[in-house]
Amino acid sequence: MTAQDLEKLLQEMSLEEKVGQMVQLSPAVYGKDSVITGPAGEVALTEEKTALIGSLLGTGDPEVIRRIQKEAVARQPHHIPMLFMLDVINGDQTIFPINLALGCSFDPDMAERTASIAAREASAAGVHVTFAPMLDLVRDARWGRVMESPGEDPTLNARIGEALVHGFQGENVGEPGRVAACLKHFAGYGAPEGGREYDNVELSEQTFRNDYLTAYQAAVDAGCRMAMTSFNTLNRVPSSANRVLCRQILRGEMGFDGVLISDYAAVEELISHGIAADRREAAKLAVEAGVDIDMMTTCYLDNLPDLVRSGEVPEALVDEAVRRILRLKNDLGLFENPYKDADAAAVQNVWCCDAFRKEARASAPETFVLLKNKENLLPLDVDTGDGSGGGEKILFAGPYLDSHALYGSWSFPNHPEEIPTLRERLEQRGDGRFLYARGCGMLPDKTVLTDHPLSDLTPAQNVEAVDAACRLAAEADRVVLFLGEHIRQTGEGASRTSLRLPEPQMELLRRVSAVNRNTIAVLFTGRPLVLREVEQLAGAVLCVWRPGTEGAQAILDVLFGETEPSGRLSMSFPRAEGQEPLYYSRFQGGRPRFSASDPKAYRIGYIDEDYWAYHAFGAGEGYTRFSYSPVSLSAAKLCGADPDRAGTDASGAAAQITAAVTLTNTGRRRGTEIVQMYLRDRTGSVVRPVRELKGFRRVTLDPGESREIPFVIAEPMLRFIRLDGTFGSEPGLFDVYIGHDSTTDNSAAFALV
Ligand code: BGC
Repeated sequence: MTAQDLEKLLQEMSLEEKVGQMVQLSPAVYGKDSVITGPAGEVALTEEKTALIGSLLGTGDPEVIRRIQKEAVARQPHHIPMLFMLDVINGDQTIFPINLALGCSFDPDMAERTASIAAREASAAGVHVTFAPMLDLVRDARWGRVMESPGEDPTLNARIGEALVHGFQGENVGEPGRVAACLKHFAGYGAPEGGREYDNVELSEQTFRNDYLTAYQAAVDAGCRMAMTSFNTLNRVPSSANRVLCRQILRGEMGFDGVLISDYAAVEELISHGIAADRREAAKLAVEAGVDIDMMTTCYLDNLPDLVRSGEVPEALVDEAVRRILRLKNDLGLFENPYKDADAAAVQNVWCCDAFRKEARASAPETFVLLKNKENLLPLDVDTGDGSGGGEKILFAGPYLDSHALYGSWSFPNHPEEIPTLRERLEQRGDGRFLYARGCGMLPDKTVLTDHPLSDLTPAQNVEAVDAACRLAAEADRVVLFLGEHIRQTGEGASRTSLRLPEPQMELLRRVSAVNRNTIAVLFTGRPLVLREVEQLAGAVLCVWRPGTEGAQAILDVLFGETEPSGRLSMSFPRAEGQEPLYYSRFQGGRPRFSASDPKAYRIGYIDEDYWAYHAFGAGEGYTRFSYSPVSLSAAKLCGADPDRAGTDASGAAAQITAAVTLTNTGRRRGTEIVQMYLRDRTGSVVRPVRELKGFRRVTLDPGESREIPFVIAEPMLRFIRLDGTFGSEPGLFDVYIGHDSTTDNSAAFALV
């Protein structure tokens, strides 16, 4: 449809029809099954109103979608097709590592590939929009949804976020195999006080703009077609009623011109927030704030027509929302083909096809972070060199040995029971030297967690299971324990005050490591954990997050050294829960501590615990070692505001500086390093962080090989929100750090003039 035709259609639509476009419900209103991801309110709709609804969420079944679409197009007075939206977060049927793990890969290209596969699978099912990427900056591991975000760093999140948008949408959302992306949750949802789910957010204007908006902005710049409001309150106004946030910042300043949808029931929740007296007022506030679609309530449907007729809401507000929604439908090509790619036969060839599973297997090791590897316990030494091709007896145990739930929350595989378990993959290797034990219990995947112990075994059965594992551990040369959080311990509504492994698993680790010191812990988690005791007990610790469909195979690839774990932490791991929120990009403070030997009293931090992370942002090992040369700079002065002055400037300042290191693989295996470049602005009109990630590169080298790794530094990289609220740089001294992680001391200094 041309833009004029679209405008003509809009003019012809009745007010009720227009409001219908602004409503999203679940297929339940059509009597169809769907995934319910929030409280299911009572929605009683007349036939007439049902016919006007503009979009549905929660089904990825191509037959259901085709059937509903056919009826919808026939019934809608202007035959306007529906939008089908779904949470395709970590993949559709081929499940990839969770977003936090994708952050750890520092590999936007890989992230883009996973998103484009997810888009292929979802669009073949008939889905038009995915509620992804989630780009909330996360700095408090107690919050359950940290697993959905790439992590704590604005730049890393921005690079992963824009890659995901490109992966989902391609060049044109109307093309086959593409879906529209929806950035969420706007804004600041990642910073609830105390890490408590759905709680208030307090962010200074500086922190909000410098850190929290960065990744959302990158997604907008990448052309993301939709955005979702967040549940939280910011500056005492819930996002779905926050005009400053939605109109002034998102649309005005950030340049977003797509469709803004509320989060699940967030319009009606304005009442509970205490900002609207009733559903009518909630609808008024949300539409005034610029929320185009009301997800999962009928506040708009029941109240907007009357609000417009009574003159309380200008019809122009409804028109602008509907215009955006129709434009998206048109760009998806739905007026020509309302089913887009929905094809029940095609999905059989697309879903979980070999090529996609191969990508799932290859991507996961890039996200695994090796946190400890004492005496090179890993990779498992299969060949002892005695000509037998091996010989070590290895015990594999723990609750994840037999688990199919190797994926994270927000994954909805149709056949979770077909996801291979670790034991199944180990048995396929057909190695008689492997021993197996359950070790301890874990509740079934679907259990809604409350306060019960996380084991399905009685205390006595647990003791028996541990005893059995210990007997085998005593015979084994090495032990691999597959441990971790229950799948429901992270995700929405899963905040925790404890960041520890479930107690039955700790008991297993304590007892087994006492009889076999070559114990390796493989950890499934959706958040940073407190690992001090785990690392005292286990000789090696490999964090595999929630790796997805091919998780078991990918883990074995890494354990047996067929590939290496090449992820680095995208979120700091704390020493104790009391350190949260925790992130590397902090302020030095007026009474700093620089090292553990500095006194603690009257200095920044705690008296009973160190200030720094247990494992820092960027940390992680591989199976080889790397050395870094000192940082070299191509110039000592960088030209500020006017780069044209470069070269002609009397001070000899350059338009850009190249900072470089020579990286050498000093180990005996080919391996990958993630070279990280941080900048520090020594003084500013406002306090500047101790350092900020500004560049990174994955580099693979053969043993003995060296390579120069350059990073270009230009003035725009040095900009921030200054004291007067403007965005720009300030002259002065800067440090460039290039090294293995966020604690590197390898640095050089330059001046911005
Ligand atoms: C979540 C969103 C999600 C939506 C739809 C909400 O509860 O906060 O992230 O996209 O449900 O399922």
